[in-house]
Amino acid sequence: MTDRFETLAVHAGAEPDPASGAVSPPIQMSTTFKQDGVGGLRGGFEYGRTGNPTRQLLEEAIAVLEGATHGVAFASGLAATQNLLYLLDPGDRLVLTDDAYGGTWRLADKVWRRYGVQTDAVDLTDLDAVAEAVHGSRMVWIETPTNPLLKVVDISAVARLAATAGAMTVVDSTFATPYLTRPLDLGADVVLHSATKYLGGHSDVIGGLVATRSDQVAERLRFHQNAAGAVPSPFDCWLVLRGLRTLALRMERSSMNAGFIAEWLTARPEVTRVLYPGLPDHPQRGLVERQMRLPGAMLSFELRGGEDAARRFVAATRLFTLAESLGAVESLIELPAAMTHASVAGSPLEVPGGLVRLSVGIESVEDLVADLAAAFDA
Ligand SMILES: Cc1ncc(COP(=O)(O)O)c(C=O)c1O
Repeated sequence: MTDRFETLAVHAGAEPDPASGAVSPPIQMSTTFKQDGVGGLRGGFEYGRTGNPTRQLLEEAIAVLEGATHGVAFASGLAATQNLLYLLDPGDRLVLTDDAYGGTWRLADKVWRRYGVQTDAVDLTDLDAVAEAVHGSRMVWIETPTNPLLKVVDISAVARLAATAGAMTVVDSTFATPYLTRPLDLGADVVLHSATKYLGGHSDVIGGLVATRSDQVAERLRFHQNAAGAVPSPFDCWLVLRGLRTLALRMERSSMNAGFIAEWLTARPEVTRVLYPGLPDHPQRGLVERQMRLPGAMLSFELRGGEDAARRFVAATRLFTLAESLGAVESLIELPAAMTHASVAGSPLEVPGGLVRLSVGIESVEDLVADLAAAFDA
């Protein structure tokens, strides 16, 4: 019998500890492991960078939740990105969605370009543009929904086009989480998460996770994980494991709150446009219904008063905390152009200066709406 997602999220990587029966997994801090004679490893562990029992539980959990056969954990979402980009060689070309987390673009453009990897930013919602761009590329990097414009990319269609060109497809599924979308089921080769966001869920841990069904990719990633050493601490792995237990509940509640707030914003005279995958006028609405269990808890909007009004608005909320990051129990508000996406200024990924982004949390939606209403009044 196959358990459903909600059950798997509670139980994946959470078998009671065989030694003690502990229901919450032990945090194994030891950096080295006794060998029974040279090379006689107990449980396969030798050195904490190479492998750690708490990390292994997290890696097993993400593999289960993504329907993968391998999970690999890193010290941050960007460390996971970096280690995936190690799969490329000088002269390779990367096709990156033209609306992406600013740090992903910065890494590709400011670091990898120096090592001979060329990155082209392409609107991956335009399949004709994708068909053209994938020729001669080695990797296609999807982010969906995109950050911060909330475009939704057709994973199956892009993965098919990439495969015909011999390129691998990576999906940064940080906004969707495996509860909303399972990219590997749709034909992607690799799925990546900033576990700092919904998987951890409480704004208290930085982490990155990758999952794949490819033995070859997993083997190379494990080699990079050990060779480059960007590994998460055992305590950080434990925090993400704990976050996973409530992922389904948090996504349900925050997505419901976001849907309500998105509709409420569309009726406000101060707002010129609302970007949210759950709205009837979202450009990829049909795809959202096919590809996402729920439309998610991220939304962006623009104010009639432009950037000045947006700057005053984000400083005027009480419950929505003005801060970078997203995906936690508490609601956050930010100005992408000046904060999370400052690094894409002047690039093809530049975002409108007056765009406000909300990460909607699990608070009472009445209180959240009252907070936004008070900020409009202010
Ligand atoms: C979509 C997305 N991918 C990757 C990252 C990078 O993750 P981290 O901050 O854990 O390095 C972020 C961070 O905001 C993100 O929003």
